[in-house]
Amino acid sequence: MFDARIYVQRRSRLKEKIKSGLILFFGIEESPMNYQGNPYHFRQDSTFLYFFGLDFPALAAVIDIDEDKEVVFGNDVEIEDIIWMGSQPSLLVRALGAGIKKTAPLNQLEETVKKAIQKGKKVHFLPPYRPETRLKLAQLLDLDYDVIQENISKELIKEVVAQRSVKIDEEIDEMEKAHSVSYEMHTTAMRMAKAGVYEREIVGEIEGIALSHGCQLSFPTILTIDGQILHNHYHGNVLKEGRLLVNDSGAESEMHYASDITRTIPVGGKFTEKQKEIYEIVLHSQETAIHLIKPGIKFREIHLIISKIIASGLKDLGLLKGNIEDAVREGVHAMFFPHGLGHLIGLDVHDMEDLGEDHVGYDDKTKRSDQFGFAYLRFAKELQPGHVLTVEPGIYFIPALIDKWKREKKLTQFIDYERVDKYKDFGGIRIEDNVLVTEDGSRVLGKSIPKKVRELEEITAK
Ligand code: GLY
Ligand code: MN
Repeated sequence: MFDARIYVQRRSRLKEKIKSGLILFFGIEESPMNYQGNPYHFRQDSTFLYFFGLDFPALAAVIDIDEDKEVVFGNDVEIEDIIWMGSQPSLLVRALGAGIKKTAPLNQLEETVKKAIQKGKKVHFLPPYRPETRLKLAQLLDLDYDVIQENISKELIKEVVAQRSVKIDEEIDEMEKAHSVSYEMHTTAMRMAKAGVYEREIVGEIEGIALSHGCQLSFPTILTIDGQILHNHYHGNVLKEGRLLVNDSGAESEMHYASDITRTIPVGGKFTEKQKEIYEIVLHSQETAIHLIKPGIKFREIHLIISKIIASGLKDLGLLKGNIEDAVREGVHAMFFPHGLGHLIGLDVHDMEDLGEDHVGYDDKTKRSDQFGFAYLRFAKELQPGHVLTVEPGIYFIPALIDKWKREKKLTQFIDYERVDKYKDFGGIRIEDNVLVTEDGSRVLGKSIPKKVRELEEITAK
């Protein structure tokens, strides 16, 4: 946990901004894999961690702003639990670590919430992403399960997003820890990327590295020679000379701060000319994006500049033609780069996506585009010091998408489909780093992981 003062300050600001009513938070329950005693890996809710720091299951918390009371609800262990789990510090002792002075058994939560409702207080809560949390909310608030979503507190979402979006130094230190584990995961994968090795062997090794450092994964590993499938979690292919291996993986620190890094490496240690040409476009676009990051610029502007760099690189190779400004306005690049440039990262790998992507990445001055590709940009608004974003452009040759557009004769004035067809067995390339917005520019988190062609050929050939 951080120092108690940090949690106290966060909750004070919340009370100041929300002004009145009761704020209700839920932690995560253990979830059975097949029977109650055999649960999935437990991961605490990130907002609960942010305001209360308590990293164990079956907790709830209430902040009564009007009465200036903060209570964490949970049950202390009894002899039956101690037999299976060992002794645990009391809930009060643990809660004191976050500056909370009052705890109560879970069965008192209902009375507390119902009393507040009787007094006419507004109950603020965040959108639940687990059905059991939604059920509990429905019961406590006497609402239909289906209308819970309509009753979420927009004010609370807005304030939680405002706070969690700007990382303090202590949080950046945690993210740096996650990044040093990522460095080891990625450089190990590079050394293992030889023909004849199964993807799953590399996955096993790098996930073991995260665990051996007391970390977990920040998301399920994407490690594949079919990098054109953006979120490919199949790891059963054997590596072949001439293929590119996309490794999009990350650790989360013990305090659950994430890293999310992608490298694309040539199996066996040598890029072909064709691969190198595409790789250099992606690398140039990624380095340019990082260079452009600074407070005041909108991330959507950078996304658009990068889309033009990608389109113009593909034009140089003869895959695209015509005026690049016009082509990008029409969304031509999205056939090759169908996702956004990046997303906010912090306690969640896609930070606060549970609160609604539009609340995190968009605002009154920045509206989401409805164009294919551009619409997937998760974060578009103006950058501020303390934001941490992923910068992850890519170029992919997705046979089904190429065939669809070709069949539809889409944007034929800009696309040379005959040339594009020659890349249908290419796969995909993505390069990703995590970047902190500083007062006057940006800083890439973590020790630099090889990404230049020469560096990659050197390490993968070892
Ligand atoms: N690392 C996976 C993603 O950003 O979606
Ligand atoms: Mn990412």
